[in-house]
Amino acid sequence: MSGQIPQRFLDDLLARVDVVEVVGERVKLKKAGRNHSGLCPFHQEKSPSFTVSADKQFYHCFGCGAHGNALRFLMEYDKLRFPEAVEQLAARLGMEVPREGADDPRAQARERKRKEGVNLLELSASYFRERLKMPEGDSARRYLADRGLSPEVQQTFGIGCAPAGWEALKRHLSERGIAEAVQIEYGLLVHHEDSGRTYDRFRDRVMFPIRDIRGRTIAFGGRVLGDAKPKYLNSPETPVFHKGRELYGLYEARQANSRLERVVIVEGYMDVVALAQFGIRNAVATLGTSTSEEHLSRLFRMVGEVVFCFDGDRAGRQAATRALETVLPQMIDGRQARFMFLPEGEDPDTLVRREGPEAFEDRITCASPLSEFLFDHAAEGRDLGTIEARERFASQVLAAIGKLPEGVLKSLLLGELSRRTGVDQSRFEALVAPVEALSSEPPLAPEAEWRPEDEGREARPVPGKGQQALSLMGRVLQLLVHEPRLVERLPEDDDWCDQPDPEARLCREVVRLLRAGGYRSAQVLLAHFHGTPEGERLAELARREPLVPRGVRGAELDNWVAYFQRHRQQQSPLEEYEALLSRMQAGERLSKEEGQRLNELLMELKS
Ligand code: UTP
Ligand code: MN
Repeated sequence: MSGQIPQRFLDDLLARVDVVEVVGERVKLKKAGRNHSGLCPFHQEKSPSFTVSADKQFYHCFGCGAHGNALRFLMEYDKLRFPEAVEQLAARLGMEVPREGADDPRAQARERKRKEGVNLLELSASYFRERLKMPEGDSARRYLADRGLSPEVQQTFGIGCAPAGWEALKRHLSERGIAEAVQIEYGLLVHHEDSGRTYDRFRDRVMFPIRDIRGRTIAFGGRVLGDAKPKYLNSPETPVFHKGRELYGLYEARQANSRLERVVIVEGYMDVVALAQFGIRNAVATLGTSTSEEHLSRLFRMVGEVVFCFDGDRAGRQAATRALETVLPQMIDGRQARFMFLPEGEDPDTLVRREGPEAFEDRITCASPLSEFLFDHAAEGRDLGTIEARERFASQVLAAIGKLPEGVLKSLLLGELSRRTGVDQSRFEALVAPVEALSSEPPLAPEAEWRPEDEGREARPVPGKGQQALSLMGRVLQLLVHEPRLVERLPEDDDWCDQPDPEARLCREVVRLLRAGGYRSAQVLLAHFHGTPEGERLAELARREPLVPRGVRGAELDNWVAYFQRHRQQQSPLEEYEALLSRMQAGERLSKEEGQRLNELLMELKS
């Protein structure tokens, strides 16, 4: 883009465009009085604090303070630079953007060049698509059919093929006046230094166009039809393509989901396309690189949750370690990262075909939260029964925690680390606090290091000062919150907790959720109930130290369940009625549920 855009034009543009319409295309809005409101797209929220005013032509979020006009919105939401946002708004109104000083020859040349690049890539993409329909595309068509890709999904992703031969695309582009130098610059043509000859980079391959967030083709990935090497060939870095920044499938994912909240990062092109074909339309792939900070920061500006999907083999675990390192500094509150591992020998493409999309979705739902992966990873190969291993375990976890930004996650992890090692949390807090400036250095200053001999001396469970004693059901809930896996020990029949009081009701709900498999960590459970009284109750229970070591919590839970079962069997309706009545007579106020139960019992006893 060259030349200044005249202010007069901007005023005119903003006068004609309707911010409600622009926002409404991207955010679900409801009319509320003179304004429209909806869930703010710039921060995570459950109830709408985002309003758009048609009168004043701006949007405002009372939650995060995001504020601006239609242009600002496009810049923030679509991640456009100012001139791009202007172009986009102008285009929807059919207006041409005038440029002041556009006669500067250098600027003109730059502009011409940019257009040339974009044109050339679009031209190539449609050329590849056309080839797939021709007889010369027979083998590629057959290949795609063999891999089970439907024509619809091929079309969604704009898949095409490059013909065999050395100069097919080159001829096509050159006939349309595109200089070879430009074809080389954009990675379509390869210049062979020794011979001075030029030839098509992509030959006899299935072609996947890589699109930017606005759907413009910026590069290609090409797959061989057989087993030749390299299996995939990608465009090199060009003026419009930077591997460490782009994600394959992101444009398509955003197109398919009006409100994209979660993205699954997989490894390959085929994985993205196969998942989409089976209705899982939020997968993206890095382009033969590991996930970079830039990938993640771009993603987190669009979605609240990123799920990393890895092969179950060693390479997959290594990739997961790298991903963990990369994601830690980005985990500000409200963001979620989770890790899923596929069975060995499978990738999402093979697995979704074998198991079906529901099973794959279940895997996504059950992916380990970052905290769980972090602890599992640090515990891997260590016998935490020994003090030395626990020390190394703690150091590794602390190193990771040191990379986290300040926030709830950091405190939760410190709490969990303290629970797992038996060392007081404040001890750890002191260790991570000064570390923040250092990023790659070991986070433990030697003099501050937690030593095994500190064990015992420092280890004291946080006493629940001034806290009320827990009810028995409260205790059961607390155990479940601290160790969600304990749900597996519970009897299949929930009748032990079918009492009508709120605590038991919450317990049933928690058990149901844990059983459904989606909530294997306290964090996720708390997030589910966030903002409700139940959420507060659970958070309070999560903060309270369970006071008994992990190993015996299961047995304790079994005891309580047995107790409730016995208690239930013993109490006849009459006894229950009398118990409630006597509490009432003693001046205690019954809860609504208990009141209802009392009525029920009365009816039952009368009949
Ligand atoms: P994989 O080798 O795991 O292949 O490469 P895949 O995605 O399962 O491919 P299919 O199913 O055999 O078609 C994963 C990703 O690594 C990059 C590509 O982005 C690929 O999708 N890659 C792989 C390359 O860039 N070049 C290669 O030669 C191989
Ligand atoms: Mn594959």
